[in-house]
Amino acid sequence: METLKKSLPDKLVGCLQCAQRVVVLTGAGISAESGLPTFRGDGGLWKKYKADDLASLDGFLQKPDVVWEWYEYRRSIYAHARPNPGHLALAEMGKFYADFTLITQNTDGLHLAAGSENILELHGSLHRNRCHLCGKLYPEQVVSNGQVPPRCGCGGMLRPDVVWFGEPLSPSILDGALRAASEAQVFFSVGTSALVQPAASLPLAAKKRRAVLVEINIEPTPLSPAADFFLEGKASEWLTLIKEVLQ
Ligand code: OAD
Repeated sequence: METLKKSLPDKLVGCLQCAQRVVVLTGAGISAESGLPTFRGDGGLWKKYKADDLASLDGFLQKPDVVWEWYEYRRSIYAHARPNPGHLALAEMGKFYADFTLITQNTDGLHLAAGSENILELHGSLHRNRCHLCGKLYPEQVVSNGQVPPRCGCGGMLRPDVVWFGEPLSPSILDGALRAASEAQVFFSVGTSALVQPAASLPLAAKKRRAVLVEINIEPTPLSPAADFFLEGKASEWLTLIKEVLQ
């Protein structure tokens, strides 16, 4: 593992300029610079709130109103968040490569807002709801008719269309992510603690198929020993540098 501080090494620049198939996996760290809290670091959501209560089906079934209100509160914060230079640099990188896949664990929609295409939202999106019973999808804003949570036409309760602990990911999205990872020549892991499966296995799957593995994080993670390049620091700074060498 090579730890880099200020500039991109020639070897990495060479890889980035020659590569045709590039995959990026992002986590909450990339949105930290848009003012959104991460999950596990200082001030992280799971330091303040219990994931079992708020991000599980059991928690929802026990206290649906509390869970709904918590997500409404988060949405009210996310509504003010804007893409930061890290999101924008990734959107530019996507234009440089013919085959570029952006896999995100984030549910904030900021990659889409930044103009990225070919995004796989592994953990769903806070900008949608779905019926807990019939699965019908609804937009973020729904008419509640005074009910908390609002109800579907079938009578089922609405919940955010995100993946909770213990729930499976969408098979088609996970398949797409695994396929992209296995075909990547360069795989970036950006702003994620690399602790939550199956997302955390994607960089390793890529590496196994000989991708160059690049990690960007403000601190080492369990993935760092496997990284060919560990770029220590803020996602926005490194990604802006990378975007610039590609232009
Ligand atoms: P975490 O909160 O676990 O990790 C955020 C990572 O971002 C940490 O490793 C930080 O060091 C790093 N970080 C913070 N600021 C950064 C910055 N400016 N630049 C670069 N890195 C920075 O968030 P995730 O790894 O995304 O799941 O968490 C994975 C999943 O766990 C989430 O999708 C969520 C959560 O429970 C669900 O909601 C299903």
